[in-house]
Amino acid sequence: MQDYLRHSFGLEGKVALVTGAREGIGFATATALAAAGARVAVTSRSADGLLPVLEAIREAGGEALPLTMEMRDLASVRAGIERAAEHFGQLNVLVNNAGIAIRAPSLTYTEADWTEVLEVDLRGPFFAAQATAAIMARSGGGRIINVSSVFAHKAMGSRAAYAASKAGLEQMTKVLAVEWAPYGITVNAVAPGTVLTPSREHLFVTPEALAERLRIIPLGRFGEPEDIAPAIVFLASPAAAWITGAVINIDGGMRL
Ligand SMILES: NC(=O)c1ccc[n+]([C@@H]2O[C@H](COP(=O)([O-])OP(=O)(O)OC[C@H]3O[C@@H](n4cnc5c(N)ncnc54)[C@H](OP(=O)(O)O)[C@@H]3O)[C@@H](O)[C@H]2O)c1
Repeated sequence: MQDYLRHSFGLEGKVALVTGAREGIGFATATALAAAGARVAVTSRSADGLLPVLEAIREAGGEALPLTMEMRDLASVRAGIERAAEHFGQLNVLVNNAGIAIRAPSLTYTEADWTEVLEVDLRGPFFAAQATAAIMARSGGGRIINVSSVFAHKAMGSRAAYAASKAGLEQMTKVLAVEWAPYGITVNAVAPGTVLTPSREHLFVTPEALAERLRIIPLGRFGEPEDIAPAIVFLASPAAAWITGAVINIDGGMRL
């Protein structure tokens, strides 16, 4: 059984890069990939912010590389990816996790906010995937996993830019899956529902806000980053070798 699990789900000898790994889903994903045996490059806009995730990975016996990366600055995205590949000698898995949600009514939504959301949530991930795929294509393949959202599927007000980015990210996932299959690169996505990460907690401080959101989650609770990370490890693992262009919904049924 142990051998079967290691053979199917283990990531020994693999190198992964997780964007936006300072906290939340990115933190849980980076530590989970390391626990599965991968060496992991982690990114944030601030090097200091990465100390807790580096410590968690190293304490668990893993190896991690901190990188500063600004998703809006494509030169920084490409430099980080090249640095990870150079440092570890290979790059097998990219997790496009960094993302932002700026909520505001569409009648007054600003150009600046629209541009920022689209740049961080869609343009940055495309060019990160492009830079990574160029490296993967030379080494026989790899795995790209994009972190989408339930709001790619479910319409709720004040989220037009975010929903458009994530729906775009999912269709981009499918196009890249087709285009890069000949290089041995799979491209998949996970679409989380509401996960109480530090950036979201403030939205649910009142009992009314909490109750209203819980009402639309059939499984009756918010998600934890640890509900999302294992599916990403699975998509990176040998067990998912024949899965591409898929979106795994991890939302307690919220999209339904
Ligand atoms: N939490 C949820 O309920 C939920 C639901 C559905 C989907 N998601 C998606 O899951 C992903 C992670 O969400 P989360 O809640 O765990 O996020 P989070 O706690 O807010 O962390 C977001 C990460 O993205 C990074 N980031 C934001 N803007 C960036 C930029 N301009 N350049 C580079 N990095 C940037 C942050 O990096 P810094 O360290 O530089 O701040 C941070 O590490 C996002 O794509 C989000 O859309 C979340």
